[in-house]
Amino acid sequence: MRIISSVDEYKEFLSSSDKKQTGFVPTMGALHQGHLSLVRKSLSENDLTVVSIFVNPKQFNDKNDFEKYPRTLEKDLELLKNEKCDIVFVPQTDDIYNNYTGIKIDFKELDKIYEGKFRPGHFQGVVDIVYRLFEIVKPDKAYFGEKDFQQLAIIKLMVKQTNLPIIIVPCEIVREKSGLAMSSRNERLTAEQREIASFIYKTMLIIKENAKSGDNPQTWINFFQTEINKHTPLKYEYATFCEPNTLNSVSVFEKNKGVQLCVAVWCDEVRLIDNLFLQF
Ligand code: PAJ
Repeated sequence: MRIISSVDEYKEFLSSSDKKQTGFVPTMGALHQGHLSLVRKSLSENDLTVVSIFVNPKQFNDKNDFEKYPRTLEKDLELLKNEKCDIVFVPQTDDIYNNYTGIKIDFKELDKIYEGKFRPGHFQGVVDIVYRLFEIVKPDKAYFGEKDFQQLAIIKLMVKQTNLPIIIVPCEIVREKSGLAMSSRNERLTAEQREIASFIYKTMLIIKENAKSGDNPQTWINFFQTEINKHTPLKYEYATFCEPNTLNSVSVFEKNKGVQLCVAVWCDEVRLIDNLFLQF
């Protein structure tokens, strides 16, 4: 496994090696089985797998969240080595943003709703760094988790609008045994808080099992809010039922249609997101 830590070194690597079918997994580190599932998928579909680790300051709308974001580089490198990852790209902020001001896309309002509403500027920061990483790594395929459902939709939009020749591969959410969606931010929870946080997914499952076509989604949003707020220190932030491709919110559950339930919940000082597909 080769570790590349500057943009110039990456360019040198590309120019000195034969072009290989390349899979790319961008991450912010503090790797867990969710990240590793993306890495394994890339390894199985490509000749060369590149993982980037970069805690991107531009996408944090909350300074506290950025500062407290877990950083476990040594452990991450060990995990990636065990997976037989080929290249780990670990750039520095000044280097990667040198002479780069960002990329403009038409978000079609996707940056204003759900996550975008509660995290202003977040998706512009994500698009800026992912475009820059794509420019440097030049992958054929890039792997993104459905855990960040809205991010995945926005990356697809960016690739389409900028005509990048990159296939975006969506990957399923990996969960703890308790059902809690794996997340780097879970590292900031105590064992007890993790247990309580699993109630987020459990409540989503109750909705999946009981919601019927014809129901008004707002009834189930209210149910989710009430149930979550019963479990201190969980605090509801939002829940929405949306059309999985456009992310337009739905106003009624229609027979034979699918909707994505997307939620954000605070557990003490840690913000957690999750989502689940419901078929009617
Ligand atoms: P990060 O949160 O580190 O996630 C990296 C990738 O792993 C994302 O595509 C995310 O959706 C996926 N992932 C995280 N938890 C997962 C889980 N439990 N199951 C499946 N996939 C999971 O997302 C980012 O970093 C950043 O925004 C990034 C795209 C790297 C840009 O900075």
